[in-house]
Amino acid sequence: MKKLTIRGGIPLYGDVYIGGMKNSALPILFATILTRGKNILYQIPKVSDIDLSLEILSFLGAVIEPLDDGGLLIDTSPIEFRDLPFEVSGKIRGSMYLIGAMLGRFGEASVGMPGGCNFGGNRPIDLHIKGFEALGARVNFTEDSMLHTEALDGLVGNSIYLDTTSVGATINIMLAATGAMGTTVIENAAREPHIADVANFLNAAGADISGAGTTTVKIRGGRPLHACRYTILPDMIEAGTYMLAAATAGGCVTVHNIIPKHMETVTAKLLETGVKVSVTDNSITVESDGRYRGTNFKALPYPGFPTDMHPQFGAMMCYAEGISTLVEGVFPKRFRYTDELTKMGADIHRTEENTALIYGTPRLRGASVHATDLRAGAALVIAALAADGVTEITGVEYIERGYTDIARHLRELGAAIELTET
Ligand code: EPZ
Repeated sequence: MKKLTIRGGIPLYGDVYIGGMKNSALPILFATILTRGKNILYQIPKVSDIDLSLEILSFLGAVIEPLDDGGLLIDTSPIEFRDLPFEVSGKIRGSMYLIGAMLGRFGEASVGMPGGCNFGGNRPIDLHIKGFEALGARVNFTEDSMLHTEALDGLVGNSIYLDTTSVGATINIMLAATGAMGTTVIENAAREPHIADVANFLNAAGADISGAGTTTVKIRGGRPLHACRYTILPDMIEAGTYMLAAATAGGCVTVHNIIPKHMETVTAKLLETGVKVSVTDNSITVESDGRYRGTNFKALPYPGFPTDMHPQFGAMMCYAEGISTLVEGVFPKRFRYTDELTKMGADIHRTEENTALIYGTPRLRGASVHATDLRAGAALVIAALAADGVTEITGVEYIERGYTDIARHLRELGAAIELTET
């Protein structure tokens, strides 16, 4: 088991170069199944969720080869239809996208139910199923927790209304709809930047998708897709995490290779706390003396404050002057991280299922804590960087799902952090 050991109280100074966005790279990797050719992708992040996705593509027969220029060649022409048993596809939530991609290419998919971070509460897939059935596929669960979908007469375009704004369902239906005859319209679609990223990849491969990034996405399906070269957009959550680390620990850190527009809500919230933020066209600098005001926020679908930044912001508010109210509007039970922060002396009160009140305190104490999911782990790292004494964080495997070399990046910023195998 891996462990991060962090001695807190050291301000951070320097630069971090942000990688490609995990939650965009995952669907785009599986979308290559639709292209039947030699794709070349850039800014694929080196995180464990991506490693697992590449293993799945290899299992299906894809040929994957790293290139000297940093690109990744993914040849999906050899791929043949295969069932994807739970032991292959069940470890990550992103494997949900295999269904849309396999349906779009083969008219059929059989995938072991996806895994993914369990941050409290279940993670339904009813909207994904609603979309596949609207396109003419039959969906059923087999006894060994396999989700089998099949369009015996081929997929046919349709209009689909998503009752809840869902990133995964929006993308999954978009993937399948490229293989449907006729036009599909997704209403109440999610607007996260990575949805437009997936649509841009598919259009570069010959698809005809418009409206991605708005609440109405139109896909004119049935066009054969070809391989293409594509660069994944930068990871706004990775960038936001380092911005909050600098705000909380104090110092001056610049995150590079980002799209500031995607960071607007995080930047706005930091400014509300009194932290200094300066923005250029591809970087953001955060300057802090570690003292700042509390504030309130509600995690909402994009363009709202990202739910994937909620735990990190919760950690930052533990050190704020005053009281902060955190409301989680996407995953109401996403508060398991607060139990671990409480072990460090944080003063957090859960007033309702989806709400926490955080009473800021000047110091937290180092403790032994456990990452319960990817972003909870990032929150514990942030809290540890400003805590008195040493914090030991287990469950690092969760953090590695979404952050490349987080210990090295933070050490280069001056943090006293070590990654060890226990
Ligand atoms: C994606 O999860 C991300 N995961 C999550 O990131 C992220 O928190 C989430 O989008 C929201 O931005 C990946 O991209 C692999 P949703 P996803 O469908 O697609 C409900 C991280 O930390 N819902 O947008 O599963 C659902 O319960 C991870 O990187 C249904 O009701 O999220 C939730 O309340 C964690 N029925 C809301 O919609 C469905 O069929 C939004 O979920 C699907 C979802």
